[in-house]
Amino acid sequence: MGKTLIAPSILSADFADFAGAVREIDASGADWIHLDIMDGCFVPNLTFGPKLVADLRPRSSLFFDAHLMVNEPEKLVPAFAQAGADGITFHAEATVHSQRLLTSIRDMGKKAGISVVPSTPAAQIGELLPYADMVLVMTVNPGFGGQKFIPECLEKVRKIAEMRKQQGLDFLISVDGGIQEETAPAALEAGVDVLVVGSAFFAAADKPALVRCLKSGG
Ligand code: DX5
Ligand code: ZN
Repeated sequence: MGKTLIAPSILSADFADFAGAVREIDASGADWIHLDIMDGCFVPNLTFGPKLVADLRPRSSLFFDAHLMVNEPEKLVPAFAQAGADGITFHAEATVHSQRLLTSIRDMGKKAGISVVPSTPAAQIGELLPYADMVLVMTVNPGFGGQKFIPECLEKVRKIAEMRKQQGLDFLISVDGGIQEETAPAALEAGVDVLVVGSAFFAAADKPALVRCLKSGG
C-alpha cells in the first residue's frame, strides 16, 4: 500500500532497561514500537501489563502497537487504551466476539487490529476485515522471540491482501515472527505493510542500517 513501516518489538530488549530500548528504537528511524503482551494462558509466556505501557508513553511519540496474546482480551483492552496504546491488536482465537471488540477499540479512538496464529486460515477473519485497521499475521507460533520464520504463512498474507483488494478496504497487514533481512523481501512481496522485528533488531550492531535495509525491501 504505502511505504513499509518497521515495528521493533521490545520483547527482545533487556527487561531491566525498557527505557533504553525505547531510546534505541526512536534513534533507529523505525516507525512503531511493538508491545507484546502475554498472559501465560493464551501463550506459554508472561511479559508485562499496562503500567509499563503507561510509563513508556511519555518517552516516545512513536505509534505504540500493543499485541495482546491473552485470553478474554475484552477484559484488558480498556486498560491498554488508557495506558496510551495507539493500536490494539488481539487474537481471533482468543475471543468469540471479535467484531464487537474491534468496534469497541475504534470507539475508544484507537486503531483496531486482529491477529491470527499460523494454523488459523484467512477465511476465519474474512467477515471481520471491514472492522479492522490492522491485520497481524503471525509467522511463528506466538510466545517467544527468536523463533524460525514459517514461510507457508505468506500464502495467508497473499489471501488477505487479495480480500482487501476485493472488498475495497485499506487496513494494514503486518507480519510478526522471524523477520530479518533474509525473510523480509518475501513478506513484502506478498503484500505486507508492517514488519515487526524483535530479536533481529536488538541483535543488530547498526540498528539504523537494519531499519533502512528492511524499509528498502530487505
Ligand atoms: C512473538 C511476538 C513477536 C516477537 C517477534 O510471540 O508476538 O512480536 O517479539 O520476535 P522475533 O522477531 O525475534 O521473532
Ligand atoms: Zn508480537
